[in-house]
Amino acid sequence: MAIRKIITLGDDRLRKVSREVTDFGPRTQQIIDDMIDTLDDCGNGIGLSAVQVGILRRIFIIDMKDGTGCRVFVNPRIVATEGSAVGEEGCLSIPGRSGYVERPQKVTVEAFDRHGQAFTLTKTGLYGVCICHEYDHLEGVLFIDREVDG
Ligand code: NI
Repeated sequence: MAIRKIITLGDDRLRKVSREVTDFGPRTQQIIDDMIDTLDDCGNGIGLSAVQVGILRRIFIIDMKDGTGCRVFVNPRIVATEGSAVGEEGCLSIPGRSGYVERPQKVTVEAFDRHGQAFTLTKTGLYGVCICHEYDHLEGVLFIDREVDG
């Protein structure tokens, strides 16, 4: 368990496409544990992708910090979206900046949990936005690439 340094805008790794996770062994478990510790340590953050701690693997975590706990998404795929809405976003890798982004109102994601069990999740509102934002990180995309006028 360790808090890892979050890389920030200007670090080339944020622009890379992350690779699929192919094993759920101790190294992957360690990365996930460290990501959870790192997100816990960021008072205001609700999502973190592995690339943000410098690891180009297709993993992100979301913790709405509302007492419902932290969910781990491994090799996620967004399989359906519905509607669209513009909302304000920030990113732990772009401190001190926020912007307006158009996102689906509803998103369905298929992913594996940290033990390799497949699950499907449909979310609306901020949680859905967070899924899209974190998924973008796995593709090397940042919210500033999608900014629209508020
Ligand atoms: Ni971000």
